[in-house]
Amino acid sequence: MTHRILVLNGPNLNLLGTREPDSYGTMTLGEVNSALEELAGELEAELRCLQSNHEGAMIDAIHETAGWADGIIMNPGAYTHYSYAIRDAIAAVDLPAIEVHLTNVHARETFRHTSVVSPVCLGQVIGLGWRGYLLALRGLVGYLES
Ligand code: DQA
Repeated sequence: MTHRILVLNGPNLNLLGTREPDSYGTMTLGEVNSALEELAGELEAELRCLQSNHEGAMIDAIHETAGWADGIIMNPGAYTHYSYAIRDAIAAVDLPAIEVHLTNVHARETFRHTSVVSPVCLGQVIGLGWRGYLLALRGLVGYLES
């Protein structure tokens, strides 16, 4: 069975590759999405990869893909730490969601230690760079199959 997954990246993640490469690595978001598409092919999953710098657009994407998607992989960027609206959107669509962070947010500034989206997510993958997205995809497909 094909599993349909929304991969949603939030603000500033369009700059991956050049943005603070010591923290976020040198892979571009396009390259991360290509690696995800390749793995999705192996796992027989179908992806929709979206990125927005706007909270409302991210919420619209969650609502609009809810009828299509079986699950969500998301890195809400800084919205992770304070967007109750994105948290509520995930809760509203009631789809299993995995939260991904390239960096180990707990080893960084205090404001990054809090995630308001975690309570409505199935799980988190943090601190493993771009590979975290691939692990999230494997984990989510495994969860959907079980
Ligand atoms: C991030 C961590 C956030 O604190 C930060 O605002 C980001 C990226 C990460 O992937 O490590 O934009 O979500």
